[in-house]
Amino acid sequence: MFDKLLYIETFGCQMNVNDSERIVSMLAELGYAPTNEASAADMILLNTCSVRGGAEEKVYRRLANLRIYKRDGKKQIIAVGGCVAQQEGEELLRKLPYLDLVIGTHNLHLLPDMVRGAERGERRSETTFIDNEQRLDLFPSIKGESRLSRFVTVMQGCDNFCSYCIVPYVRGREISRRSADILKEITQLAEEGVKEVILLGQNVNSYGLNTEHEPSFPELIRLVAKIDGIERIRFTTSHPKDMSDELIACFADVPKLSGQIHLPAQSGSDSVLKAMKRGYSRSSYLEKIHKLKAIRPDIVITGDIIVGFPGESDEDFEQTLSLMEEVRYIDIFSFVYSPRPGTKAAELSDDLPKAVKMARLDRLMELQRHHTRDISKAYVGTVMSVLVEGEGRLPGQISGKGEIGRIVNFPGDTSLIGTFVDVKITKAYPNSFLGELL
Ligand code: 5AD
Ligand code: SF4
Repeated sequence: MFDKLLYIETFGCQMNVNDSERIVSMLAELGYAPTNEASAADMILLNTCSVRGGAEEKVYRRLANLRIYKRDGKKQIIAVGGCVAQQEGEELLRKLPYLDLVIGTHNLHLLPDMVRGAERGERRSETTFIDNEQRLDLFPSIKGESRLSRFVTVMQGCDNFCSYCIVPYVRGREISRRSADILKEITQLAEEGVKEVILLGQNVNSYGLNTEHEPSFPELIRLVAKIDGIERIRFTTSHPKDMSDELIACFADVPKLSGQIHLPAQSGSDSVLKAMKRGYSRSSYLEKIHKLKAIRPDIVITGDIIVGFPGESDEDFEQTLSLMEEVRYIDIFSFVYSPRPGTKAAELSDDLPKAVKMARLDRLMELQRHHTRDISKAYVGTVMSVLVEGEGRLPGQISGKGEIGRIVNFPGDTSLIGTFVDVKITKAYPNSFLGELL
């Protein structure tokens, strides 16, 4: 029985999106139904990201706005989860008197108890780090939500300590889930009608590396591919340094594996990559891209790039643009470097003017717009297998994702939802395609 409303805002990565789904499912058992309206909610939760400084400030601004709702005199629980919560902990409760709950990245299992306490007026912060196997036993599962495409966590945390990145500090060490648990979960999902799974982790390529008697990530993909009912497999995120030939081979001989891969380069310059402690060179990154393209010529690549890392020269930046020319990403996430307190890079002197960084970002985004346009245009006239997931953008349309992960809208009947259909692409937009059913 739902008798209360829960409003969640999620910032940052897929990990947080997945945790938010988990929270919705856990709090449903306490009678909370999700709502899109913060003002009507009995509980508001911000699931936060601290990867970049801007995102963190956004959370503070958002909390200041949400406070207005709380002042209405209605009793409303306000909670902060995710990486900002992990980082700031108790401090947040001290700074923000209207905040009720702070829940760290390893403490989701405590949330129902915390919410019950908050309903009685208790304020509480839980941010204990759990860097052993026990973390997985405490990992709440998602219940009662049936969809066609679902994320399945295969590992958590990151051991890479790239010099700019806060993730290892707020998400902890790499821990792989037991393959038996993963396969059981996916088999169950398939029985519920799920057709596509996205294997999720900060660094999926190092799945199983710290564990004995567990498959490697490529072996895991092959095991997942054997599960009846699962028709398409994706994964995110891969670290280029751990991208093995064995994994590349999966793109040739696992037909269920989607022809799209997210492989963040971060920079095209060897000296910047070294300062970032990425563990690969420009040429070894490009070699992997070439192998992927050789084995699956239609593969589509997406990536992340940081501009304005401390010490990045004009020449370094040109190297990044030339890497983009060689790879030809269909899409990238691009960021201006933002120093994160506590990371190694935050200690480097960073004297590049902001205006120079912004100008570099503009140039990079302009180049990417060209690539996105050219690559997408080349799909016009081709046929894509689309998993129909719901109604389309316009009345009478339905929509779903093609093999390369982009949304395709096309005229069709909603009775096709849940099936794979062949769609001829008729027009390419910056983020989606228009098509017609064959
Ligand atoms: N500054 C800018 N971008 C960053 N990212 C991670 N840390 C930082 C930082 N300090 C970017 C990287 C990563 C993505 C999730 O966020 O590109 O791949
Ligand atoms: Fe951060 Fe690097 Fe780990 Fe990715 S691989 S989460 S960028 S430390």
